Amino acid sequence: MSTPTKQKALFLLEKHGQFAVRDRDVPTPKPGELLIKNETSSLNPIDWKTQDFGMFVTNYPAVIGSEGAGTIEAVGEGVTDLKKGDRVLYRAIAVINDWAAYQQYTLSNPQNVAKIPEGISFDEAATLPTALVSSAVALYSQPGAGEYVPPWAEGGKGKYAGQPLVIIGGSSVIGSGAIQWGRLSGFSPIITTASLKNTELLKSYGATHVLDRNLSVDATREEVKKIIGGLPSFVFDPVSLPETQTLGYELLAPGGRLFIILLDSIKEKTEGRTVTFAPVAARLQQDPQFNLDLFKAITAYLESGEIKPLKAEVLPGGLAGVVSGVEKLRNNQVSGTKLIVHPQETA
Ligand SMILES: NC(=O)c1ccc[n+]([C@@H]2O[C@H](COP(=O)([O-])OP(=O)(O)OC[C@H]3O[C@@H](n4cnc5c(N)ncnc54)[C@H](OP(=O)(O)O)[C@@H]3O)[C@@H](O)[C@H]2O)c1
Repeated sequence: MSTPTKQKALFLLEKHGQFAVRDRDVPTPKPGELLIKNETSSLNPIDWKTQDFGMFVTNYPAVIGSEGAGTIEAVGEGVTDLKKGDRVLYRAIAVINDWAAYQQYTLSNPQNVAKIPEGISFDEAATLPTALVSSAVALYSQPGAGEYVPPWAEGGKGKYAGQPLVIIGGSSVIGSGAIQWGRLSGFSPIITTASLKNTELLKSYGATHVLDRNLSVDATREEVKKIIGGLPSFVFDPVSLPETQTLGYELLAPGGRLFIILLDSIKEKTEGRTVTFAPVAARLQQDPQFNLDLFKAITAYLESGEIKPLKAEVLPGGLAGVVSGVEKLRNNQVSGTKLIVHPQETA
């Protein structure tokens, strides 16, 4: 079947405006680009932040959406390692309409896609791009922070055996990715905070200890000390709200490092403890080899079963389903789950 010329897309109509499904042209891949037919697009907290705060996007009406999975529909000149019909997961570029994920066809490029192995569905695959990419950047690509060697690099797998890893908010999508990378890197124990109803889920990803996220800072510190016999020299906080950053920072041993994913809110740094922010998109741009190797590793680890897809909830209504999902994310009603939609089911 030939590629249609028109498609359904979900537009954010104006700055601070509403979402609405409209028709738009299907883009054509230029040399080096791919066109992906989206079977699954995934939601992210950045969606409601874009809508509420009017940040990131400059041109309206805007198509947003940061990740998805589907089939390659067409490849531009010069693309040799991917072809029409390949099943891929991908990281989208939510600030460029043709490259964003809330539509039926999205442009991409080979460095931002990973082939999906047999036996993994589009829904499963679409739970992973942000989860794995953002956590991998935070853990393994932090210049100046004494970053860790990734498990896919030579000698990286299991390299940190016996070293503790503390992750604040392991049931967040990025936290769930970080737990899985931590397991592949050999960190042990892997301690995380979450709502306790998510304990078994997080243990299935590789957490060894799940602490109640409602414990006080002091009580959490005591629990961590009991488990590792001291305080950790490294904590990752994928939630990165002021209160979780405070917790992460207060857990650190003197000289320890807190890695975060939103802007630093720790005003006073003491005892040589540092905070490092991971700007994911910028880091991937600065380090194209890391980007390339990471996506190759995702395919390999999915194939070997060493990385598991996250728990997902499909929102009904095709792309229109994004609207209710954005509301749930805004209101903190999503727990240990990736929200996804099926763009081809858009009315
Ligand atoms: N720097 C970048 O370039 C970049 C890139 C991507 C995302 N981000 C940001 O990263 C953040 C995380 O994104 P995400 O998709 O992983 O979030 P998410 O999955 O939507 O987060 C929801 C989860 O956060 C957990 N949580 C909330 N408050 C918590 C607390 N006080 N303690 C422990 N856990 C808590 C909840 O745990 P329970 O349900 O178990 O209680 C829930 O499972 C977002 O703010 C996003 O905008 C930044």
